[in-house]
Amino acid sequence: MAISVNEHVHPEKWLIAPHVIRLETSIIREILKISSQPGVISFAGGLPAPELFPLDDLKRICGQVIETYGPAAFQYSLSRGVPPFVGLLAERASNSGCPTERENVLVTAGAHQAIELVARAFIDPGDYVIVENPTYVGALQAFNYYQARYVPIEMDREGMLVEQVEASIRKFSPKLIYTVSNFQNPTGISMSEGRRQALVEVAVKYNIPLIDDNPYREIRFAGRPATQLKAIGGDAVIELHTFSKTVAPGLRIGWINGPKPVMGQLEKVKQCTDLHTSSFSQYLIYEFVKQGLIDPHIEKIKANYLEKRNTMLHSLEKHFPSGISWTNPEGGLFLWLELPKGVSAKDLLPRAIELGVTYVYGSPFFSAGGGENTMRLGFSNPTVADIVEGVKRLGTLLQERI
Ligand SMILES: Cc1ncc(COP(=O)(O)O)c(C=O)c1O
Repeated sequence: MAISVNEHVHPEKWLIAPHVIRLETSIIREILKISSQPGVISFAGGLPAPELFPLDDLKRICGQVIETYGPAAFQYSLSRGVPPFVGLLAERASNSGCPTERENVLVTAGAHQAIELVARAFIDPGDYVIVENPTYVGALQAFNYYQARYVPIEMDREGMLVEQVEASIRKFSPKLIYTVSNFQNPTGISMSEGRRQALVEVAVKYNIPLIDDNPYREIRFAGRPATQLKAIGGDAVIELHTFSKTVAPGLRIGWINGPKPVMGQLEKVKQCTDLHTSSFSQYLIYEFVKQGLIDPHIEKIKANYLEKRNTMLHSLEKHFPSGISWTNPEGGLFLWLELPKGVSAKDLLPRAIELGVTYVYGSPFFSAGGGENTMRLGFSNPTVADIVEGVKRLGTLLQERI
């Protein structure tokens, strides 16, 4: 080549779209990098307990998938999902109180992609989305890409304050209402029955899609099961599911349960994004579920997380100074802490890292700013012994600073 590439090519000057340049990297992923350093106890992620991954079953099923489905497990497959898996998902949803047909289902690469596809399908730049305050930061990241604006709705121990939702709809004409109704990320709060009913009623009254991002419903280790928004609202609700928290996130399998007219649109968006979700992963989970392994496995997860939550609560009582409050979730992976006003959880993080413990500070979960005095502690991933030690280290830090 006559022309010198090094001299003439300046990738730093290429015209990346301004809205991409404006995107911020995920703070959780940044903190997770630090958390993987040796000796650091991490409460930062929403990572499942690695000791619970059903490795022996998955190993056996990998072989069975290859024997049973042969090349089909490695071939391109349908954008909606591998047909027997789609059928099984519809059946399980119907059995859980939400009548679902195959045409309501689209398999995705995790719940995160489900959020992303919904965002792509609905949001034009400047559109409003109603979100809980705080809300799942990954959803904000996906919505930000499409230049959404937010209407944050305050929460209490029963979930979002639904009476604020109707006024917000009238004022902002939002495209979507996004909620994590069960054991919310980041707070661990579950919506009360009354609020569920009221939220669906508002969504129906104004015909606004209600997105229920639902990764944690099955991980309830205390209290009574709540009625699913989808069971109340039917076609008013687009429900997002995942096997990340119940089997393994690395397989990247989630799915959307939505009304038929929307599923055709989402299918087109899925095709634009990645054609289809991994055939092999779908067959793997299909067999895991079909062989009746998932429900007993979820029972194991629940027992493990209950013990870890209890250990964390007990350790917080023991080591934390007064003036700090926290949630007591009946399921899921997270506790949410409020420090005294004026104390910044972000400012405390470098010292926490010195002491060998990490967490996620709460402010990125607030779409309109605020929440500086909050933090999220994930209890699913560390061992019980590490929870005791990690909370002790955090306690030392808080005693120093508060
Ligand atoms: C509320 C919520 N939605 C979606 C996701 C993404 O899950 P997945 O691994 O299925 O993409 C998470 C993961 O932590 C989550 O907490």
